[in-house]
Amino acid sequence: MIRIKMIWLPIFLVAAVGCVGGQETAQTRVASSLSECYSNPNLLNRNNLPPVTMPVLIDLIRKIEDNTTTLNLREMSTLLLHTFRQDGIQYHQPENSVTSANVLPFAPTFHSFHRNRLLLTRLLPENRLTLSADTLPPVLKCTLHHMLSTTVDTRVRGDENGCSQLSQYRALRTARSGRSISDDVEILKPSDLLSANKNGKMRQYDPNNDVEYGNVGAGAMSERQVAESTCPLLGGVVDTAWGAVSAGNVIAGIATGAQIQVVNILQLVRDASLNYRNVQQTVTSLFPATLAGDLAEAVLIQGTERGSTSIAIGTAGGWNSTQARRHFILQNRVNVEMTDPEIRGGIDGFVLGRNVVAQLGVASNMKLSQLLDMYYSPRNGALDPNLRACNRRESLNNFVTNDQLVSETNAFAAALDTNMPLRGTIIGGLDQLVTSAVTNLRSYTNDVLNDLNCDASQSQSNNFRLKTNLYIVLDASWQYQTVMPAIAYLVDSIEVSKFGSSITLLSAFDGSIVVNTTYSPADFYAEYNASRHATMMAGVNFETSLTNIKLMMQQSLVNETTRNYIGGNSSVLLYLINGNLPVTDRVWEQANEINNTIPDLRVLYATTTNQFDSLWPFVRDMYRDIFTISLNSVGTGVDTAMAPILQRIQSVGRRIVNPTCGFLFNGGTSGARSFDDYVEPGYVNYYRISPNYFLGTRRRDNSTVLIEGSENNPITCQALNSGNVEIGMQYLCDGWDNANSCPPFYMSVESDTGLTAGSLSSAACTDANCRFPYNIRYSIQVDELGCFNGASSVTASFLVLLTALYLTLYGS
Ligand SMILES: *[C@@H]1O[C@H](CO)[C@@H](O)[C@H](O)[C@H]1NC(C)=O
Ligand SMILES: *[C@@H]1O[C@H](CO)[C@@H](O)[C@H](O)[C@H]1NC(C)=O
Ligand SMILES: *[C@@H]1O[C@H](CO)[C@@H](O)[C@H](O)[C@H]1NC(C)=O
Ligand SMILES: *[C@@H]1O[C@H](CO)[C@@H](O)[C@H](O)[C@H]1NC(C)=O
Ligand SMILES: *[C@@H]1O[C@H](CO)[C@@H](O)[C@H](O)[C@H]1NC(C)=O
Ligand SMILES: *[C@@H]1O[C@H](CO)[C@@H](O)[C@H](O)[C@H]1NC(C)=O
Ligand SMILES: *[C@@H]1O[C@H](CO)[C@@H](O)[C@H](O)[C@H]1NC(C)=O
Ligand SMILES: *[C@@H]1O[C@H](CO)[C@@H](O)[C@H](O)[C@H]1NC(C)=O
Repeated sequence: MIRIKMIWLPIFLVAAVGCVGGQETAQTRVASSLSECYSNPNLLNRNNLPPVTMPVLIDLIRKIEDNTTTLNLREMSTLLLHTFRQDGIQYHQPENSVTSANVLPFAPTFHSFHRNRLLLTRLLPENRLTLSADTLPPVLKCTLHHMLSTTVDTRVRGDENGCSQLSQYRALRTARSGRSISDDVEILKPSDLLSANKNGKMRQYDPNNDVEYGNVGAGAMSERQVAESTCPLLGGVVDTAWGAVSAGNVIAGIATGAQIQVVNILQLVRDASLNYRNVQQTVTSLFPATLAGDLAEAVLIQGTERGSTSIAIGTAGGWNSTQARRHFILQNRVNVEMTDPEIRGGIDGFVLGRNVVAQLGVASNMKLSQLLDMYYSPRNGALDPNLRACNRRESLNNFVTNDQLVSETNAFAAALDTNMPLRGTIIGGLDQLVTSAVTNLRSYTNDVLNDLNCDASQSQSNNFRLKTNLYIVLDASWQYQTVMPAIAYLVDSIEVSKFGSSITLLSAFDGSIVVNTTYSPADFYAEYNASRHATMMAGVNFETSLTNIKLMMQQSLVNETTRNYIGGNSSVLLYLINGNLPVTDRVWEQANEINNTIPDLRVLYATTTNQFDSLWPFVRDMYRDIFTISLNSVGTGVDTAMAPILQRIQSVGRRIVNPTCGFLFNGGTSGARSFDDYVEPGYVNYYRISPNYFLGTRRRDNSTVLIEGSENNPITCQALNSGNVEIGMQYLCDGWDNANSCPPFYMSVESDTGLTAGSLSSAACTDANCRFPYNIRYSIQVDELGCFNGASSVTASFLVLLTALYLTLYGS
């Protein structure tokens, strides 16, 4: 760990905290770079912004990293906080509701502003970097700002009656067995509330009591009585499979942990001198940036406003949708200083900050996006399986003692007290309040927060990752609210991302592009909004759309010939139809052409009415490629409806092709060509080769064949650690008539053991295509693949080739 002691600053500088620093996000007004997020009506409506999920956050960070390649992890995390995080921004109704073009009715008035200002101006390394204004378009800039900035929106929305039916009141669960289909929407039972209330941790919630009255802002900014929501929105929250997380805390932990500073609390004091003398004189920046920061807020606010002697830690909440999550609704309007997402974010940030310097020793080029991607992952973890979100509870117990938390919180609370306007003055007993808060944090985390644990995460996750080019052909007669959750489910589940799958949205009216192929979930969600959906052409034209899609897919095979593309991805076309798909003979001809000329495209049909009887001749596997789905406008039961489709998409292997074939299959042999691919420890990659590339191949007499697939013994395994494996592919179609009937060849590459604690001394996959530093690279070489279209028969081919695959493992 690097410890850098800050030089004690002269008192006149300290007194000027409010106006030095030059960081716009630390000022008491909305930063000008963020003001459009609060003035542009399109951006102000969160329903137009991408959902706030960890994959979207990682995607946004990657975009910035790819644009500023010279920055390291420490600089990137600091820059993100300085540029996008401004805590505590709240709406204030102008007097008499008069609006002015010169005034933004938003200002950072919520209590979280003060801690974040100290973080930006005193606790983080100084930031000399700036991002060019157009690094992210406004819609993504505002999304990132809202993901990082903790605040509470207390405005009455009118939907408060539904607050008791939110999905995922995780904190109230006992015996959690993990994510299951029926968990989708949970109704909060009165018995849960009563039992939770017994711990004194949660207030009784009365769903009939829609509106309560209180003062604006916890900081007593105004004495005017304004209606407040009984279940306010919490900002700065990001959804993960391991509970909703305050992402600002996570990034702040990493940023401060990457460059730990021990700061004298006199440097954090504003105006006067300290009110409390018997506290330690320094804080270690990682603490106030994470756990101690929220604990201190809870102590000061609850201690002065409610005169509590027991500080309540933890407030549950939930998303008001099961997919495309955007609004996190707290279950309570008081004691919101250390809510569940802030606890999780505080622990995650603390754990990552504690370990980041050591991790950079193992993987020196590790990026911030990679660190988050590994930590919020069901397997392997951040270079160590113990460093996973699912292990959060154990990590809190392993990495910090109550004594440390108490003394750090005491010191920071004393400093924060001089920065934050409060409604009372604590004149004694600060340390009892702090001790109560720390004790309650520990018991709340151990007994109440009940997120998916590591065993369940591991057993419920797949040991493979998808690289699928998914094309959805969408019927515009769906309502956006109805179909969007289903699409979001697929986008999230197939991992649309720079290193994973892509999504393309096409129109069922004519097959035209609605959203172009993208590997960025953030871009997809930003483009496919309700207004874009509303502009789609209504109506389904099966023949026109399939014809145009066939032409587009054929064109992309031609493009692949030009690019010498050998393989790596699978491709799936999914018709998502609200009603009937009218079939004709002409449509059948198009489907038949797709069968014969685009052998690796898997076509699936999902319709609201059962059309098996008319659709079965159109698919390759009539029992597995046709679905009847039922979706509703409140977005419930999406995973029940879509899981069979997802499983089918997952079963389509990555394709390997002879790029000379195109769609006419009139090219020559492939010769020897190779491409690289990557596998994570403990994961498997599945490949599929169409018979169109090996149909008529025969053994060359003098060739050496190490393994040969045959009908009697179709499965063989070989260890790749010796460096090289050769698989012969001759005679595989003997006994079959043509390429349409001969089964494809399947192959998998597997890393048989996952990461174990302490096993990684260096992780050096720094190649631009490595998703994780510990990825294992190998090469697949094809040799003499042929070209046979779907109709060609085995006997028609006189080619005598050595058709083989070689796999080589790199010891990098
Ligand atoms: C960064 O983004 C800007 C604006 O979008 C672009 O002009 C610039 O080329 C990008 N730089 C890199 C290195 O990608
Ligand atoms: C969630 O709540 C917000 C704020 O009230 C609202 O705009 C949005 O439509 C709701 N979403 C769903 C799916 O109900
Ligand atoms: C295959 O997927 C990778 C990312 O996973 C992408 O970079 C590449 O362009 C894709 N290839 C094709 C032909 O779609
Ligand atoms: C889709 O993207 C491709 C490649 O980037 C581009 O050539 C094409 O014009 C785009 N199509 C539309 C409709 O935007
Ligand atoms: C919807 O997305 C389109 C791009 O597809 C964008 O031009 C438009 O501004 C967005 N509309 C809103 C209301 O955000
Ligand atoms: C094929 O390549 C051309 C030129 O690069 C591009 O405009 C077109 O969109 C590509 N088509 C497909 C289907 O990838
Ligand atoms: C496509 O091929 C499958 C066999 O692979 C066959 O069952 C199906 O009928 C064919 N469909 C068309 C439209 O040619
Ligand atoms: C294999 O046979 C081909 C002709 O069938 C010949 O050109 C080649 O030299 C032979 N290779 C070896 C290693 O014997």
